[in-house]
Amino acid sequence: MECVLFLSLVAYLNLLSLWFLLHLCYFYFSFPEYNTFSNTVKRCCSQKKENSVFSQRTDEASAAQYFQFYGCLSQQQNMMQDFVRTATYYRAIVQNYTDFTDKVVLDVGCGSGILSFFAVQAGARRVYAVEASSMAKYAELLVRSNNLSDKITVLAGKIEEISLPENVDVVISEPMGYMLFNERMLESYLHSKKWLKTNGMMFPTYSDIHLAPFSDEQLYMEHYSRANFWYQEWFYGVNLSSLRSAAVDEYLQQPIVDTFDVRILMAQTVKYTINFMEATEEDLHRVEIPFVFQMMQSGLIHGLAFWFDVAFVGSLVTVWLSTAPTEPLTHWYQVRCLLQTPLFAKEGETLSGKVLLVANKRQSYDIQIVAMVDQTGFKSGNTIDLKNPFFSKAHPLWKIKSLVCYSLVYFYRYEFIIVLY
Ligand SMILES: C[S@@+](CC[C@H](N)C(=O)[O-])C[C@H]1O[C@@H](n2cnc3c(N)ncnc32)[C@H](O)[C@@H]1O
Repeated sequence: MECVLFLSLVAYLNLLSLWFLLHLCYFYFSFPEYNTFSNTVKRCCSQKKENSVFSQRTDEASAAQYFQFYGCLSQQQNMMQDFVRTATYYRAIVQNYTDFTDKVVLDVGCGSGILSFFAVQAGARRVYAVEASSMAKYAELLVRSNNLSDKITVLAGKIEEISLPENVDVVISEPMGYMLFNERMLESYLHSKKWLKTNGMMFPTYSDIHLAPFSDEQLYMEHYSRANFWYQEWFYGVNLSSLRSAAVDEYLQQPIVDTFDVRILMAQTVKYTINFMEATEEDLHRVEIPFVFQMMQSGLIHGLAFWFDVAFVGSLVTVWLSTAPTEPLTHWYQVRCLLQTPLFAKEGETLSGKVLLVANKRQSYDIQIVAMVDQTGFKSGNTIDLKNPFFSKAHPLWKIKSLVCYSLVYFYRYEFIIVLY
């Protein structure tokens, strides 16, 4: 009796698996594209997440806020509408079509998928478009509605946590935050090299960060006097003045994101290069930039100004994307860091020191600046919190010649609410 029961059970289970198999085949052959896609996604997304490089270096709260920001179509639109940025990426990819024709491409942090579409237009055979925010589902929708499911595979997840079915010929990405380093997405970009074939290409290929001392009395006083609120000795009966110096320190520690007239610069820039073909993620945990500036004019040095360029080195052309103050404005603007106390220097003297950037778990950097006028021995410096920027309200909107933005709310990269007139 037991034997009969056991055999019936086996037969039943076999029938059940046959039924399941038949259904699977039906779906598989009815929707081949969907199945290919979903199977790849399932395989690629089932990696361990708890101990990924990303989760180890990032506070959960920071990551949640960050990916929520990028999950908004409005934020993707803001980036897409930065004409200098998007048109330069388009040119860099399409003009170097020989590097993409019949190639396998990885788009790190694809957002809307715009760069993946460019890669296909340049002839890519297949593009893996990886996106960690909920934007992945919209990217997938765009791919399908543009009939490119056979070319672009959207993978929802972090580049550090997904796996690809094959290695790639080219990695494309737009990982630059303001002052280049903010967001720590450059590390994710470098991480992706584990999928790059030997002799593969990185687009962008390298980046130069530029720094120069500037003189801007008005800017310095503006930030210094923001702390005057804490001078009050009778604020609803409370003496606030014991906190004034802490408030001055805090305000001066904010990096200022805006643009300026290049005539405030007091010396030729010093350049620091990161070669994405060679650099590792660890190289970006602590970045030390030594400088010696030869002063081209006498006056008070109020701080250091920063901007960056990236280069796409293709087989046919090298294309540059620049965020310099001499170039059309982008949504990255430029960044200025104030010194705690201004330093006087004469023309011909030298200002030497270093900028030390130490990565933190808030997807940003703690920055230390030390500077000395060599001839007088006068020293100054500051500690800057890159995650806590000040977006200057005095920004002249008319200068945004090439940038059409609207509704810029929170700011990994942006500041104001700019209404499109
Ligand atoms: C600056 S946006 C660029 C979006 C798009 N590539 C473009 O050029 O318009 C960066 C995108 O990368 C995504 N991202 C950041 N870090 C990531 C990671 N570790 N893995 C996957 N996606 C990531 C963000 O969610 C965001 O959508």
